[in-house]
Parts: sequence; C-alpha cells; structure tokens
Amino acid sequence: MTSGPEQAGPSRPRNPPRTTSRIQDITEEKPPFGSRFLTEDADVWSQNAWDHVPPPEDQGEVIANALAKQHIAPVPEEERQKYNEKPARHWDNFYKMNAGNFFRNRKWLHHEFPELLQSAEPDAGPVAIAELGCGAGNAVFPLLAANKNPQLSLYAYDYASHAVKVVQSNPLYLEPPVGTIKSAVWDLSSDSLPPDLAPNSIDIVTLVFVLSALHPREWSQAIVNIHRILKPGGLVLFRDYGRYDLTQLRFKGGRLLEDNFYIRGDKTRVYFFELDELALLFTGSLAPTAVKNAPSEVKVEEEESSSVRNTFP
Ligand SMILES: C[S@@+](CC[C@H](N)C(=O)[O-])C[C@H]1O[C@@H](n2cnc3c(N)ncnc32)[C@H](O)[C@@H]1O
Repeated sequence: MTSGPEQAGPSRPRNPPRTTSRIQDITEEKPPFGSRFLTEDADVWSQNAWDHVPPPEDQGEVIANALAKQHIAPVPEEERQKYNEKPARHWDNFYKMNAGNFFRNRKWLHHEFPELLQSAEPDAGPVAIAELGCGAGNAVFPLLAANKNPQLSLYAYDYASHAVKVVQSNPLYLEPPVGTIKSAVWDLSSDSLPPDLAPNSIDIVTLVFVLSALHPREWSQAIVNIHRILKPGGLVLFRDYGRYDLTQLRFKGGRLLEDNFYIRGDKTRVYFFELDELALLFTGSLAPTAVKNAPSEVKVEEEESSSVRNTFP
C-alpha cells in the first residue's frame, strides 16, 4: 500500500544532494520512485516528481491557511446529500465526456509494484488480478500489453458503465495477445460481489485512485468486499491521494463536503488520506514507523489533459 502526498514545489530547501539509493541505481535512464534525487537545479523539470525533498519551513502555515479558507465556505448542508446521491452517474458523465482520453497509462505501476510484472512472467502460473475502479483501463492495459503469462486472468470493474464500455472496446480487450481480461460494471461499495467472481478467487487487487472517490462511510463495505474476493494471503496494491497534497490545498470555497473530502467541478468526489487512517482501515493497526519515515515525493505539476481538473500522478 502506498500513498503519494504532493508536498512542495521544486525550488524549496532540500537535503544535501544524494547520488546513491538503497532502492535502485539512480544513474539508470529512467530511475523509479524512491530514487529520483534532484542534484542540479537545471534538471528540475526533467522528472515529474522528486524524492527525498523535505517540505518548506512554512508548510504548516500554508496548510492551515488553505484549510481555514475552505472551512469558512463549505458546501452548504442542504446540498451535501445531493452530491452523495448517485455518484456513479457523475463518473459516467466524466467518461462520456472524456472517453479514454483523460488519464495516461499508469507506467509507474510496474516499478512500484513488481508483483505485477512477476505475474506477467511466462512461467508465473495461474494468477488472477482484479483492478477495482478501473476507469478507462489505464492501469490494466499496460499490464495486459506486457503480459507473457498465458495463465494470467485480469478482471476490471467500475461502477461507471461508460468506463466499462471504453475498456471493452479497447483492441487489447477484444484480442488479448496473451492471457484473458474481463470487464464488468460493479459497485465496490455494494453488498454483493461481481456476479462472475467467486469468493477467495483473486491473488492481487489493485486500487489506483479509487478509494478516494468513495464517501468515508462506504470504505468499510469496500474493504469487506476486497477481503471476500481475495484468496487468503492475497495482496492489495494501493495508491491514492495523500493528505495535504497540493491538489487538496488548492480547493477553493464551496467544495468542502467533509473534512478532507471535496466535490470537484465535475461533481466527482475526492478524499485525501492520511497513512495511519489507511493502515487502520486495511490492517486494524497504525502504520509501522519504517513506513512513516519512508521518503516523501514531490510532484512537479504536469497537465494530464486540458480539462479543468487537476492531474492524477
Ligand atoms: C480517478 S479514477 C481512476 C481510474 C483508474 N483506476 C486509473 O488509475 O486510471 C476513479 C475511478 O473509480 C471509479 N469508482 C469510484 N467509486 C467506485 C465504486 N464505488 N465502485 C466502482 N468504481 C468506482 C470511478 O468510476 C473512476 O473510474
């Protein structure tokens, strides 16, 4: 499980330059997350994120000011219910407008989660992976394209029927080179499992910027469902928004639904997680100290589309 809080811009104080990494060789042409150290100011735009950059000294003040402005003008009480009713409809409209053109393929997924690439090895044997909240398939199709395992089964679910249509019309879906893929409409927060999926049948669940789209009161049912579809010992590979991400601080008045939970201009909802909160949800315990001390990531803004929304990393 990872979360990638955006914490600061490129020109702020940083640790002394590092040229080595415990994780990977940073001289590689495309160093992965956790090994991208800004050593020359001139290189600042050469990556879309830098690791091991501490937040600026006034970060606490910046956060407090932004949150104070949001709390002065939240979404009026009488309108909140309206935004929490039929959220799938707003995502559906999103995919009607954007089809598969909004999100870029999640190329980082394979670096972050080597388990995915291992599953795609020719002799990996039977592996079932379910991508929940698959959207247009930007996480699932790079895996299918790289797959060399004839026994890999991919499942891609979303509660927005237009997202599922976009997935089902992808050439890779229609003729997967190796392995199988099945996509269907399913609400992760509902009290039933997808009709084609047996309990305890999935090895790996991927959740990529999805839990943040649920109302906090829907999380527990989602976790119950994930637990039910996973085999004992199965994995959840998770990435989502971090608390006080720049995207959160930039919300203006009239967007705050509840603490750390917002409504975007297109009426989709977004929550910004804190690590201990996620650890409690998934494991019942707070996050281990080693995880809390892991390097933070700084994102250099990069537009993903001309849409008014902020980007997903
Ligand atoms: C930010 S998009 C991410 C899409 C995809 N995972 C990716 O990385 O490109 C969030 C997706 O979650 C889906 N979603 C939100 N709540 C859901 C729910 N309760 N059940 C199923 N899908 C959901 C939305 O329809 C949307 O496609």
